[in-house]
Amino acid sequence: METTVIEKYLESAKRTDPIKYVGKVSKVQGLLIESRGPQAIIGEICRINAPKGRGNIRAEVVGLKDEIVQLMAYEETDGIEVGDRVTGLGNRLEVPVSDKLLGRVLDALGNPIDGKGDISSACMYPALASPPDPLTRRRVTERITTGVRAIDGLLAVGKGQRLGIFSGSGVGKSTLLGMIARNTSANVNVVALIGERGREVNDFIENDLGPEGLARSVLVVTPSNSPPLSRLRGAYVATAIAEYFRDQGNDVMLLFDSVTRFARAMREIGLASGEPPAQRGFPPSMFDSMPKLLERSGTSDKGSITGFYTVLVDGDDMDEPVADTVRGILDGHIVLSRDLAQGFHYPAIDILPSISRLAPSVSGEFSKKAAGVIRKNMASYARAEDLINVGAYHHGSNPEIDEAIKLHDPIEQFLIQEVDEPSSLHDTLERLSVITGVKIPPEEMSDNSAKFAGRSAVKENPAQRGAISSPVEDTKMALNSVASLFSSMPGINVIEDS
Ligand SMILES: Nc1ncnc2c1ncn2[C@@H]1O[C@H](COP(=O)(O)OP(=O)(O)O)[C@@H](O)[C@H]1O
Ligand SMILES: [Mg+2]
Repeated sequence: METTVIEKYLESAKRTDPIKYVGKVSKVQGLLIESRGPQAIIGEICRINAPKGRGNIRAEVVGLKDEIVQLMAYEETDGIEVGDRVTGLGNRLEVPVSDKLLGRVLDALGNPIDGKGDISSACMYPALASPPDPLTRRRVTERITTGVRAIDGLLAVGKGQRLGIFSGSGVGKSTLLGMIARNTSANVNVVALIGERGREVNDFIENDLGPEGLARSVLVVTPSNSPPLSRLRGAYVATAIAEYFRDQGNDVMLLFDSVTRFARAMREIGLASGEPPAQRGFPPSMFDSMPKLLERSGTSDKGSITGFYTVLVDGDDMDEPVADTVRGILDGHIVLSRDLAQGFHYPAIDILPSISRLAPSVSGEFSKKAAGVIRKNMASYARAEDLINVGAYHHGSNPEIDEAIKLHDPIEQFLIQEVDEPSSLHDTLERLSVITGVKIPPEEMSDNSAKFAGRSAVKENPAQRGAISSPVEDTKMALNSVASLFSSMPGINVIEDS
């Protein structure tokens, strides 16, 4: 009898995995932390217990060399010392997903930072995922509206299309994203603020998005002073959240600000881990990861993620490596012009060099025709503009230019739009029709958008909708806590709400 009891324990001891899941920090150099053990896989999350630092610091396994585990931290690493305990947590980065995320502001790891309570969910999505199988992807055939006349009228966007917004700094990329977030016909917005300065984050939440915009958005925020790995992972977490809402059958708008800062985070990580710089210091891994990230938006067999990705172009150089890579992957680009912004022409969208490659498949015949008339007239005006400005053009010498001059003002008025002035597809196309004289039939003007007829927000699950019972009040509360969060970070100035 006794022997059988002992045997049972011996048996279970044999089955026990003797591998140690705890290791010890052996070296810290710049962003890279090395430890002896634990046994872990690439991408696994580990906890570094740093009693002289911030207590528990989360890090990710980025390299393995014999028994040495290379880690990069999601948080500041000051105070870590050799000998600190490293525990493998056995999982890769994943995010709890549910409708509770609506109206919430999360950090790079998907934890709420707005003090509005718990978002735990039994459903977890991996931050790093593969794009949908190309064979199961629906074609982009339906229009999604942004509420921005210049885009809906002249650069029609399809559900599941991905576009870049290109410009130098301070020309209005973030403001335009905020405008889209407020006025789009999408069911849900996922906003990724990657590597923005703390002030920009607060500005965006308070001014560009506003409480109404936030109520149907999920924000993932990784400010510029967060470690590069956390900026990188914020991008993946935001994309994973968009994937969740797409899987629920929604049309999701992913507003990503900015891809450039994502690429720069990759550069910092690449250089720290010894990758050779390829183009302008960007490591090969950047050129490899960019398509993998951007391909995750788009259509699937269930719903769509329409993506707007901002790209900062240094000195308006559209050929720098990040801009060039992104332009090659996306199905269109919107160029913002500093000249227009300086002339207080907002949104500063430069129509002629901008293109939506899928516009022909998602807009009606007459809308296309009207947009063509506008573009043609804008091009004629641009060609003759120098002559016109110095008074060297004489009316009547060229009927095409005469027409372009006549339409110039109405077109400008059509393109200029206040941030808080949404325009339904119907109004946009009606105005286009009046300017161009092209009759657009009513069936081309209906955008099936809930926004303009008492929006029905996220599809499905009315039970969970209670989570945003009073969106405006809730989001105001959230704004305050986010503001105080950033104001407590070093080097961040919060602009007080006056
Ligand atoms: N649509 C707009 N209407 C009025 N002002 C705008 C508009 N877009 C941008 N601006 C002005 O330009 C500034 C910079 O815009 P922002 O969107 O932050 O640029 P970016 O994100 O490209 O750096 C804003 O603070 C605002 O003063
Ligand atoms: Mg910006």
